[in-house]
Amino acid sequence: MDNSVGATSESNDSTSTAGAFENRELILVSNREPYVHERDDEEIRVVKPEGGLTSALDPMMASTGGTWVAWASGDADDEVSDENGCVRVPPDSPSYELKRVFLTDEQVTNYYYGYSNKVLWPLCHSDTAKMEPKAQFWRHYRETNRQFAEAIREQTNPSNAVIWFQDYHFALAPRYVREASPDAFCMQFWHIPWPSWDVFQSCPQYDELLDGLLANDLLGFHLDQYCRNFLDCVSRTLDAEVDRENGRIRYDGRTIRVAAFPLGIDAAERNALAQSTEADEQWESLRESYPLPEDGRIAVGVDRLDYTKGIEQRLAALEHLWEWYPEHREQLTYVQKASESRSRIEEYQQVQTNVKKKIEQINDRFETENWQPVVYVDDYLPLSALAALYREADVCLVSSLRDGMNLVAKEYVASQVDEPGVLVLSELVGAHEELGESALTVHPNDTESFAATIQQALAMEPSERSTRMETMRQQVESNDIDAWKRNVLRQANKILEQKDEAATA
Ligand code: G6P
Repeated sequence: MDNSVGATSESNDSTSTAGAFENRELILVSNREPYVHERDDEEIRVVKPEGGLTSALDPMMASTGGTWVAWASGDADDEVSDENGCVRVPPDSPSYELKRVFLTDEQVTNYYYGYSNKVLWPLCHSDTAKMEPKAQFWRHYRETNRQFAEAIREQTNPSNAVIWFQDYHFALAPRYVREASPDAFCMQFWHIPWPSWDVFQSCPQYDELLDGLLANDLLGFHLDQYCRNFLDCVSRTLDAEVDRENGRIRYDGRTIRVAAFPLGIDAAERNALAQSTEADEQWESLRESYPLPEDGRIAVGVDRLDYTKGIEQRLAALEHLWEWYPEHREQLTYVQKASESRSRIEEYQQVQTNVKKKIEQINDRFETENWQPVVYVDDYLPLSALAALYREADVCLVSSLRDGMNLVAKEYVASQVDEPGVLVLSELVGAHEELGESALTVHPNDTESFAATIQQALAMEPSERSTRMETMRQQVESNDIDAWKRNVLRQANKILEQKDEAATA
């Protein structure tokens, strides 16, 4: 039996997705906006936020066109937007509309930091001890989801649009859209894991969340496993018919399709960037700014400072490596590129403090006159600098304790244009399903074996490195962001056709 839930991958073809849907406008909805306008004294700067979601979807919107609805998080966002909160982006070559939704501080505290990041984020990453399910968080989450649904209606008639929600900030908005426009076409992609029922049950609002999500026509996750968990949660909670084999749910008189679409990256762009002269220049300037080795080997980690990323576990493994395999002292330098994230939440402050402390401690312990074991980079790096760092790294360490997909793993692979390196990958990340056979697998909590695996990566023969990397590069290239977009849109178009046929029958 094929145990995949409504498998969706189809061969590449040249089907154009420009325009995406016949007679329907595409409205993409996410919490984070792709461009943030910030005031810097007299000037207004445009900042691109870090994080897989916006960087993956911006090129897609640039080629597809439509409207992106998102929270106005920049302090100069209102100055550059029109009276409807709209501005054309990308700033250099505008091709789609960004409609900003302005939130009060109270909403940001309770909907974004509160329900989204102190309830749903730890819940979906199966870390229920970190959940703080306060009533006011839920009230604001509901209210803010309603506000987004209204912003969509201000922008378009939902009956003539495809509304594509992104992620866990909007479990209820599809329901609010459908209440007002029963024939709207809504779909949602959930970028983080979906936990098993016994974990999901820890959330007091489990039934309302599921009911909200089932107002979509199509619901996508990265992996079959997350689809299976979701279907199981629905079957245990709601009065719904669940067809696990085909990923279909009958609920409230409608059919909802649930399917896996593993997210990819713009592999061609990353590949080109890694070969650019800009990357060479950036590498020179990184070497001037940081104590990077002249000869020695480099391992790299690139993360938002989040407790799910397993950064402390990774540092523990490196410490063990330098302790037990002294030949790597003065030979291996670890570069940690880190970006601050959700800093108003205590657990995130804790990660920042712990990571810095651990790095200081390791450096104090092993540092020599000519060598700093761990180099911490928390400055903003342009994509070309990141490309250079990935390209030069002999090993990339991805050690999340739980991760929906993890695009860093794919970015590293796509940037391996020189002497191939080795990807060391936690078995607990979504990307392990695609890359696990050619990467070296680690369990982030098994420090000794993690250290031994880094040692194995460093000792690997060039021919083996090259074979493994070639397989991963093909994988990352053929399952890139375009393939993802084609698969999701093809599936959505199929459902739309069936709906139209049913309506005219
Ligand atoms: C993850 C989430 C995204 C989020 C990103 C950055 O990738 O799936 O929805 O945008 O983290 O987090 P932030 O809270 O800064 O938007």
